[in-house]
Amino acid sequence: LEDLPVVSLAADAAHDCHPADLATGQPTTLAAVDTPALLIDLDQVEANIQAMQALATQHGLRLRPHVKTSKSAEIARLQCAAGAVGICCAKLSEAEVMVEGGLDDIVITSPVVAPVKQRRLAALATRARLAVAVDHPQTVLGLAAAAGAFGVRVGIYVELDVGQARTGVSDPDELAELAALVVRQPQLRLDGMQAYNGSVQFIVDTDARRAAVDAVATRIRAARAACAARGVLLPLVSGGGTGSADFDVLAGAIDELQAGSYVCMDGQYAGIDWPQGVPPFGLALTVLATVISTPTPTRAVLDSGWKTLSVDAGPPVALDVPGARFRFGGDEHGVLEFDDPALRPPLGSVVRLRPAHVDTTVNLHDSALALRGGRVSHRLRIGARGCVR
Ligand SMILES: Cc1ncc(COP(=O)(O)O)c(C=O)c1O
Repeated sequence: LEDLPVVSLAADAAHDCHPADLATGQPTTLAAVDTPALLIDLDQVEANIQAMQALATQHGLRLRPHVKTSKSAEIARLQCAAGAVGICCAKLSEAEVMVEGGLDDIVITSPVVAPVKQRRLAALATRARLAVAVDHPQTVLGLAAAAGAFGVRVGIYVELDVGQARTGVSDPDELAELAALVVRQPQLRLDGMQAYNGSVQFIVDTDARRAAVDAVATRIRAARAACAARGVLLPLVSGGGTGSADFDVLAGAIDELQAGSYVCMDGQYAGIDWPQGVPPFGLALTVLATVISTPTPTRAVLDSGWKTLSVDAGPPVALDVPGARFRFGGDEHGVLEFDDPALRPPLGSVVRLRPAHVDTTVNLHDSALALRGGRVSHRLRIGARGCVR
């Protein structure tokens, strides 16, 4: 870390980060950067983007990456420049940030139900091609009214529950009925069906994961058939994630991949088996933390706790620190424990942590240090951080 030069951080910092970041002035090496800090290796991000785009293209699928992972318009633009047809956003407020950042083709993958939000969505549709997942007739009619009020057409992805038991209609005939209702609304455009199964993504064993993807494909085909039987044309089916993508492209049931985490990867995705033996995507995001206390020979305390690293998927892993076991020590502390005192890093040293879950960790940070060609090139804005509305 000590050897990595830092360039031009101050220039962008004026726009993108908290004043406290500026107080430390221009650091000359990464080890001198104020921590905790996210570090995003943009070379690795681009390699990951190329790998997922190649997988989709090779099998004739469109890629519509989910930007809930990076929450960054800069990274979303890289994904579109590499061939993605557009992006997915989890929430309307995330989509608003992305439109501000120049993204113009967005699918919101969670239902937008409140009338006030439906009007906001219709307003945003005056500025970008927008679609939204829907799983209830009431939502269809509400969106039609809002779109009518703004004189726009809003795209709809009718959502099928393919096994996650989250949102989505589970009965194929009900799904077809919903799609038919959409077609009858002149203010709406039936863009496709969303069929995402998050519970498949982290099945460790590749054969079991493949079988689960095949079960998803069977449910999609039943819903497609129900739509056809009603004379409803479904332009496409959208779904899939980082863990299922290898099998989604072979199962032949989806036309558009919604994968998101591949762009940065994390501990959860490092923990599953991959058909190629190793993940085709590399770790691009880490958290830099400083050892702020060494109270015993076998303990080093870091400045990074629950407010820096998400806890939903477990503790992070300290990279390049052999023998370290991480445990959370509260909001602002992380504790590294060692059996061998000789392995404990010294007070003041900076360590890199691999988060267990990248999406929820990114959401805790306003900006990240962007690494390019082994140099910190600029501060990357996490513009949609905290955009949960
Ligand atoms: C609707 C939807 N599509 C796609 C994804 C992307 O999945 P992953 O991050 O596993 O690639 C998610 C993840 O939460 C999702 O909720």
